[in-house]
Amino acid sequence: MKDVLVIYYSQSGQLEDIARSISKPMLEDEQVQVDYYEIKMLDAFPFPWTGDVFFNVFPETFQQIPQAVHPPPSYILEKQYDLILFHYQVWYLSPSIPINSFLKSPYATAILKDRPVVTISGSRNMWAKAQDKVKALLLANGATLVGNIALTDRHYNLVSVVTIVDWLFSGIKRRAFGFFPLPGVSDADISGASRYGEIINHSLKNGNFEYLQAALVAAGAVDFKFFLVSMDKKGNRMFQIWSTLILKNPEKRKFLITCFQYYVLFALYIVSPIVFLIELVLYPLLYFIKIRKEKTHYQGV
Ligand SMILES: Cc1cc2nc3c(=O)[nH]c(=O)nc-3n(C[C@H](O)[C@H](O)[C@H](O)COP(=O)(O)O)c2cc1C
Repeated sequence: MKDVLVIYYSQSGQLEDIARSISKPMLEDEQVQVDYYEIKMLDAFPFPWTGDVFFNVFPETFQQIPQAVHPPPSYILEKQYDLILFHYQVWYLSPSIPINSFLKSPYATAILKDRPVVTISGSRNMWAKAQDKVKALLLANGATLVGNIALTDRHYNLVSVVTIVDWLFSGIKRRAFGFFPLPGVSDADISGASRYGEIINHSLKNGNFEYLQAALVAAGAVDFKFFLVSMDKKGNRMFQIWSTLILKNPEKRKFLITCFQYYVLFALYIVSPIVFLIELVLYPLLYFIKIRKEKTHYQGV
């Protein structure tokens, strides 16, 4: 008998659907026992979001400042799981506050220490640097990362910004303005994610995770897009400056957050298309300088 723990946090239910789809083959396997643990915050975040709250969580999210989480049930803390499926979403190029808070709580070490972990992100499309941050927190908790799956919205970057904002601010997964595509990870990708569950289950039952990540990548679990990683890195540098500035000037917080809002729009709709064109022209050169290395890094564990 193998014990698997599925950890997740989800506001809209998207990440919960992903978690259920990936764990389905294990749930249907009589030799595997699956437990689910949903991270719950003492002070819950609103869903749908309002513009004010959405931007106001930026500095604490990016600086990875934790908040209090409810304790997990005691039977989860006491069990020694054979595998943990750790689902998270990205907020501001970082793990979301609930995820960061759990990973920095004493419960995380109790559950994760010396356990193999597969990370699964459900984000808009910029997950790469957040994965590096989650990796560091897993390592700090003594866990061993054995696999990674990154599910994203596959539409164009600037299209998915519009559709995700409509979704997060309305609370409804619908076609923004009647003609945009549906937001978030597609239904096909969510239900198709159970094939990753089958691959994971195979490794679990063999007790060997060595080739798991290669098998997941071959099945399409990590869609590497060099331009998104490049934007993610540049965004991290700028977010570091903005979040430090806002946290150091609490009396000007409201004003600075409004400025940050305009900066994000400017960076997305003016700077990013220009950078995209430049990097497209330089692609052959960039490929040898860094893209090859980044692809290996982000498709690995
Ligand atoms: C405050 C906030 C910031 C977000 N920032 C990012 C981001 O930087 N990159 C990204 O790919 N997705 C981002 N997203 C989208 C989330 O990763 C996620 O896909 C979406 O919120 C749905 O998750 P749910 O399962 O919790 O409903 C953000 C969402 C929120 C609420």
